[in-house]
Amino acid sequence: MHREDFLMFENNQNLIYFDNGATTFKPKRVVDKVVDYYTKYTANAHRGDYDISLKVDNEYEEAREVVRHFINAKSSKEIIFTKGTTESMNMIVFSFMKYYLHKGDEILITKAEHASNVLPWFELEKELGVSVKYIPLTSEYKVTLDNLKNVVTEKTKVISLAHVTNVIGDIRPIKEITEFAHDNNILVVIDGAQSVPHLKTDVEDLDIDFLAFSGHKMLGPTGVGVLYAKEKYLEKFRPFNYGGGMNSRFESTKEIEYKELPLRLEAGTENIAGVLGLKEAILYLESIGIENIHKHEQELREYLIKRLKEVSNITVYNENSEAGIVVFNIENIFAEDTSRFLNHYGICIRAGNHCTKMVKDEIKVKNTCRISLYLYNTKEEIDKLIEVLKENNKIYDIIL
Ligand code: ALA
Repeated sequence: MHREDFLMFENNQNLIYFDNGATTFKPKRVVDKVVDYYTKYTANAHRGDYDISLKVDNEYEEAREVVRHFINAKSSKEIIFTKGTTESMNMIVFSFMKYYLHKGDEILITKAEHASNVLPWFELEKELGVSVKYIPLTSEYKVTLDNLKNVVTEKTKVISLAHVTNVIGDIRPIKEITEFAHDNNILVVIDGAQSVPHLKTDVEDLDIDFLAFSGHKMLGPTGVGVLYAKEKYLEKFRPFNYGGGMNSRFESTKEIEYKELPLRLEAGTENIAGVLGLKEAILYLESIGIENIHKHEQELREYLIKRLKEVSNITVYNENSEAGIVVFNIENIFAEDTSRFLNHYGICIRAGNHCTKMVKDEIKVKNTCRISLYLYNTKEEIDKLIEVLKENNKIYDIIL
């Protein structure tokens, strides 16, 4: 799908890229936008009164509106530009939850969460005396409302989950979860790093309280991401950074006035090129249709699972997941060795624990090979992968 829009394919004729969970290629219009900003109208945002600076202001705020529309937030004040999912998650925990929660409160996560939805909570547990607990997963490593209900107590104050997990690739029933959570005065935080690029994410329909996602996993530049929160919560965020751009005035008498949302939470010069590039990435995704992308990935996933069965000594750990992520191992072969073997044929996959270090307690294996698909992957690429994997008896001749 649309491979001609990606210069990475033009410049790497035989490359097969199956590591889209880690990062994605950028369409030409994203690269052009970044280059245009750096070559035709470089200026800071929200500071200058001259033409190129006003152009930057307009485009920067247009980008915020494009993001708002993409996730169907009520107001563009609810969109804060950050460095990425990790920074957004840390802001949720340390700019809001740290002041909202109290000793003894419980936070529910799972053992299949990425580090950025685990470590900030573990740190808050040490700092505040809150308690991080795990929702048990089903035999297919999924979250169900029943499993969740089993561990909710009257102390549960937050449920924090990936919408799509980066190893298992299951799509969580977020709407059911938020409905139940809100009936019980529980807030819901969603790590959207692996979902927003692939699935329609309507924060109003899903009734999500907080959402974090990254630009680079959705065809945008690295170093830019989004924090969304309902305005009533965002209003209570204490800035993570204090400095220029977020204050209206401060005096030697220590009188201070901070700006309204969203600028109050965007101190310092932001990643302007990144924000403008992210806007182009979203417009590009919208021009194709996120539903069409999801459908394409599901067809590829089904084909991949079917064809992987032709490889006799393979274990697939998430055959019945829904997103375009498939994890496997070749019997008696270390995951990194499989990845190096595939690399010999120009096939890029990810091997290891994928920053999701507790999932080993669930799937009982520490390292796996992960294929993560996106709109530009094809069945022909999968055919080539299978052809190579069938030759895995040669692995150590090739990589040693
Ligand atoms: N979180 C990214 C991944 O899953 C880096 O690969």
